[in-house]
Amino acid sequence: MTPRHTILLTGGLGYIGSHTAVALVEAGYRAVILDDLSNSERSVFDAICQICGDEHLEFIEGDVTDAACLKTVFEAHDFFGVIHFAAKKSVAESEADPLSYLHTNLSGLVELLRAMDTAGVYNLVFSSSATVYGDQEVFPIPETATRHAVNTYGYTKVASEEMLERVGTADDRWSFGVLRYFNPIGAHGSGLIGENPKGIPANLLPYIDRVATGELPELVVYGDDYDTPDGTGVRDYIHVMDLAEGHVQSLDAIDATGQGHVVNIGTGQGYSVLEVIKAYEAVSDIEIPFRIAPRRAGDVAVYCADASLARDVLGFQAKRDLFEMCRTNWAWTQKMAEAKTA
Ligand code: UFG
Repeated sequence: MTPRHTILLTGGLGYIGSHTAVALVEAGYRAVILDDLSNSERSVFDAICQICGDEHLEFIEGDVTDAACLKTVFEAHDFFGVIHFAAKKSVAESEADPLSYLHTNLSGLVELLRAMDTAGVYNLVFSSSATVYGDQEVFPIPETATRHAVNTYGYTKVASEEMLERVGTADDRWSFGVLRYFNPIGAHGSGLIGENPKGIPANLLPYIDRVATGELPELVVYGDDYDTPDGTGVRDYIHVMDLAEGHVQSLDAIDATGQGHVVNIGTGQGYSVLEVIKAYEAVSDIEIPFRIAPRRAGDVAVYCADASLARDVLGFQAKRDLFEMCRTNWAWTQKMAEAKTA
C-alpha cells in the first residue's frame, strides 16, 4: 500500500518516538527516524521493524542541532511534516547542566524550523509537556492555565512553545500541533519496545520495574502527607500507545484543517502512588516493597489534565486503563530481564 504521507520523527528511537513510529506506520504513514542515539539504541529500530514491518520505515543516525545533517535529510525526502521529539528531559540534569539543555532543546528546535522552512515543510507536531504549567493549584489543568517554568527543563518547553507562536504569527504557512504530555507509562503490547532509562530511574514506573526484577531493593514513596485521599502524590498517567496515537490524530487534524492546536494529552483521571503500586502488584503477582520518605523537592500533590480540548479538537480519547499500563510495563521489563540473562 502507498503511504499517505512521509513524516520525519526526530528522536524517533526514544521512548515516545518509538511507539509513535509504530502508530504512524499502522495508520498508513511512512516514518523516517532521525536519532543521534544519545539516549537510545539502534536495536530499537530493529524492534520497531519487527512490530510493523520495515517497508515504510527508515533510520538515519544524526543530530537535530546539526544544520548540515538536517539539510541532507530534507533534500533526500518529500516530507508532509515533522514530529519533533529530539530533546533532553531530565529535570535534575537540566539544573546541573543548563547549557546543554538550552543547546539541544532550543538550538535544536531553531535548526529544525530553519531546515523545514528551506525545504518548504510547514507542518510540525511538537513534543511539549505538562511541565509548562509549573506548580499549579487548579485541577484539572486547562490549556488556558498560565505557563510558568519551575526548572531549566521546563523553561526549554515554555520557550519552545513561545518560539513556535512567534514563528507562526509571522508566517501563516506554519501549522503547529503542540501536545502537552502528562505522565506517559506502559509499553507496546508486543513487549518489544518500552522505556529503558540509563542509571537509577527518577520516574515512578521505571523505578517500580527495577524493584519488581530485584535490581533495586525497595521503592521510596516520596511523601504520604499530601492533601490527597491516601496522602501520596496523584498523577495523570497515560498509556504510551494512547499518547502515540494522539500524535497521529494531531497530524491528521493538521492535514484535514490546515490549522494547528495546543492540547493536553492525558486521561483526565489521576492515580496515587499507592494505587499504582497496587495495580502493578495485581498484574505482575509480585509484591513491591516500599517505604515512605519525606516529600521530594519540587513535587506537587496533584497534577491532572483537563482532557476535554484534545477530545473536541482531535477526537482524542485514551483507551487503555491503569492495569493495561502496568501490565505492558511489566511484560516489557520481563523481556529486558530475559535478554540480559540470555
Ligand atoms: N514517586 C515516588 N517515588 C519514586 C518516583 C516517583 O514516590 O521513586 C512519586 C512522585 O513523588 C510523584 C509520582 O510518583 O508523586 C510521579 O513521579 P514521576 O517522577 O514519575 O513523575 P513527575 O510527575 O514528577 O514528573 C513527570 C515527568 C516530568 C514532567 C512532569 C509533568 O518526569 O518531566 O511529569 O508533566 F515535567
